[in-house]
Formats: sequence, structure tokens, C-alpha cells
Amino acid sequence: MDKIRIIGGNPLTGSIPIGGAKNAALPLMAACLLTADTLSLSNLPRLADVSTMARLLADFGVEIASAGDAERVLNLTAGSANGTTAAYDLVRKMRASVLVLGPLLARYGRARVSLPGGCAIGTRPVDLHLRALAELGADIEIDKGYIEARAPNGLKGADIVFPVVTVGGTENLLMAAVLAEGETSLTNAAREPEVVDLAHCLVAMGAEIEGIGSDTLRIKGVAALGGAAYDVVPDRIEAGTYAVAAAVTGGDVELAGARLELMMALAGSLEKAGVSVSETKAGIRVSRNTGPLQGIDVMTEPFPGFPTDMQAQLMVLMAIAAGASMITETIFENRFMHVPELGRMGADINVHGSSAIVRGVAELTGAQVMATDLRASVSLVLAGLAAKGETIVNRVYHLDRGYERLEEKLAACGAVIERLSG
Ligand code: UD1
Repeated sequence: MDKIRIIGGNPLTGSIPIGGAKNAALPLMAACLLTADTLSLSNLPRLADVSTMARLLADFGVEIASAGDAERVLNLTAGSANGTTAAYDLVRKMRASVLVLGPLLARYGRARVSLPGGCAIGTRPVDLHLRALAELGADIEIDKGYIEARAPNGLKGADIVFPVVTVGGTENLLMAAVLAEGETSLTNAAREPEVVDLAHCLVAMGAEIEGIGSDTLRIKGVAALGGAAYDVVPDRIEAGTYAVAAAVTGGDVELAGARLELMMALAGSLEKAGVSVSETKAGIRVSRNTGPLQGIDVMTEPFPGFPTDMQAQLMVLMAIAAGASMITETIFENRFMHVPELGRMGADINVHGSSAIVRGVAELTGAQVMATDLRASVSLVLAGLAAKGETIVNRVYHLDRGYERLEEKLAACGAVIERLSG
């Protein structure tokens, strides 16, 4: 298994290109199932999860053609389905596979999707997806570990209220409702930029959706959707991760292609901590060439609040900031798996229920570490960049799910980082 070796201490300087958002790319790819025409997606990131989604779609008979630019542009054509089963092996690898449920059901009236299990960060049920699809008239059963969904007479519009904000649930329901008969409303819908991206793409395919970007979406079902060409939104979490990398190393980095308006909560927290964040022509500039980091308090929330996918990375900044910080995780119940690993590097962090109290230390020290999920793993890379001495991050395959050419991008800005194959 590959490892990443880092010698910490170098301030990052230079420009880092930000790719398309993984969490937008996956639902956008699933949306190709809604039409017999070609959906052409550009600015796709080259990540293991994107390949997994492509494999899953190919299983359904979707034709996938790379339209140049090193697989960043894919033409997806779901002419006619020759399968509607998402098998355990792929769903187990990537929970976002469950996003095929809504479009398969809407277009073909049936879907069989392996029920995702829990994962490293929490139990992560899909009960709200299933309950809402049932409200659209789907008949849903769980059989031998699979969600068996049927709507032989098609889906019918309904007024759906989500009791908690769910990103995947909102996406699945959007993709089901666009082809349902009549009108659907989604109340307490997720407003994440990736949900907005999906809604805009669906509109480009011919869907009728009002309220995009708000927490109430109104969808008027249409008989069929057509093809479209759509450019994936830049990855605010990749950009945010490199922003923290610049901050914790005392560097000065431009995040080329990043969009500040998608990252206001993080930018606000960084500024409070003493980091300068500004918009440039090419993207965002993040610098901390002078002054120490200050402790801050942060709570994760649905967008536009502070994203849970940035919680582990921000904790590294808190670990070396002056004074005490508190971070409260309100989205997932078990998302502090990085805490003991950061502790091995000298961080002083105590977890009390859903909050972590972080007392800043003068310096982290390199160590052998590993993590069990994507964002926790990258937080250990950030800690390694800030730490004194050598850090080895094990289980690198988590990083490859969400960060394209991570070590190359960091090395180009002066980090001492390399991948050790093994
Ligand atoms: C998506 C993102 C993930 C991010 C998360 C929250 C993708 C591929 N993944 O995950 O990176 O961390 O949003 O921003 O886009 N819940 C239920 N029942 C459900 C659905 C969700 O109880 O049926 C709960 C979850 O357990 C969690 C909360 O709702 O506690 C939010 O989850 P959700 O927004 O659905 O996350 P995902 O879509 O899985």
C-alpha cells in the first residue's frame, strides 16, 4: 500500500490549480441516466471515485467516451438501460453510488441498489432518501441487503419536507422529481454548491426547477430530458484544504480557479485566525507571512455554514494556534477519528461528545500516522507539512478518492513530500 512521506517546515508559496468538485461530479454523472441523449461533462476531476462512478454507469449500459483533455471531459450516453442493479462491491467502495437510485427509478421505473452500510464517520443511513421516494409513489423494500425500488406506473409529484438537511437525499429527489408527473416541492433542501450545480445541469437538460440555491425547490415534472454540455463547479473542499496548508505553513498561495463566494464560512474562520484571504483574477490568495495563528471557535453546519468536510483540516490549524479553540461537529456523529493521530504528533485535543477542545501547542512533531477516511487523511498531510521532522501517512488510497495529484501540487509550492510505493 502506498504511503506519503513529508518533511515538514517549508512555507508553501506559488499557485495551486483547483479541479472540479468530486461531490458535484458524482451526482452529475448519475444524471446521465435521465436521458437517452448525451450528457457531456467537462472539468471532471481525475479521482478514484469518478472512475468508480463510471464503472457503475457502464454496468447499466451507459456508453462513456473520453472527449480529450485527459478524461476531464466525458460524454455519457444512457441510450437504453441493460441493467438497473448497483451491486454491493461498488456501493461498498463508494457510498455516493446510491445517487443512481433516483434517476433509475424516474427513467425506468425500477432500481436495485445495494444498501450502503455505515462508514468511518458515522452510521450514515439513507432512510430519508427512501422515505421521500416513497412519497413520490415508489414501492420500496429492503431485500437481502438491497434496496428494491419500483414505480411501474411512474413517479407522482408530492410535497416533501426533509426533517434534516441531506445533500445526497436532496440530489436523489431532484433527479427523481424532474421526470415525475406533476409538481414536487422539496422543503429544507440542501443548498450546497454541488446541489446547485446539479440543479443547473438538470435545467440545461430541460428540467423545470425553481428556487435553485434556496432551501425550497419546486420542480415541475417533464416527460423527457435531453442532452447537455455542463462544466463541473470548482472543488471548494480541495481549495479549502490548500488554503489551510498555506495558513499552517506560514505560506502565500494562490488557489487558481477557486471561487471565494463558495467558501465564505471557511474564509471568515481563517481571517479570524489571522490568515489573509483575498480574491484575485485567477481565484483566491491565502497568506500568512506575518503573525501567529489565533485560536477560534467553529461549528459545522449545512451550507452556507462551515462545512463538515473541512473540520479535520481546520483542526490542524487550531492545534498550532495561540490559545484554545473549540470545534463542534453537528453533521456526523463520529468524525473525530483524526484526533488520536494528531495527538501522536503532539497536538493537545480533548473530545467531549460532539465538541473538541484544542489547546494550541508551539510545534507539532512528525510521526507515523494513518486515518480511516478521506478528510481525516488529508488533515494528517497538513499536520505533516506544519510539523518538525518526518511524517509518514499510511493508507494513502483514501486521499486518492478525493485529491488529484496531491503530492505534486504541494511539491510544486515548495513542500518536501513524496509518495512511497509499496
Ligand atoms: C455529502 C457529501 C459529504 C459531506 C456531506 C455533508 C457527497 C458525495 N458527499 O454526503 O462529503 O460530508 O454531504 O455535507 O456529496 N442522514 C440521515 N438519513 C438520510 C440521509 C442523511 O439520517 O437518509 C443524516 C446523515 O447521517 C448525516 C446528515 O444527515 O448525519 C447529513 O448527511 P448528508 O447531507 O446526506 O450527507 P451525504 O449526502 O451522504
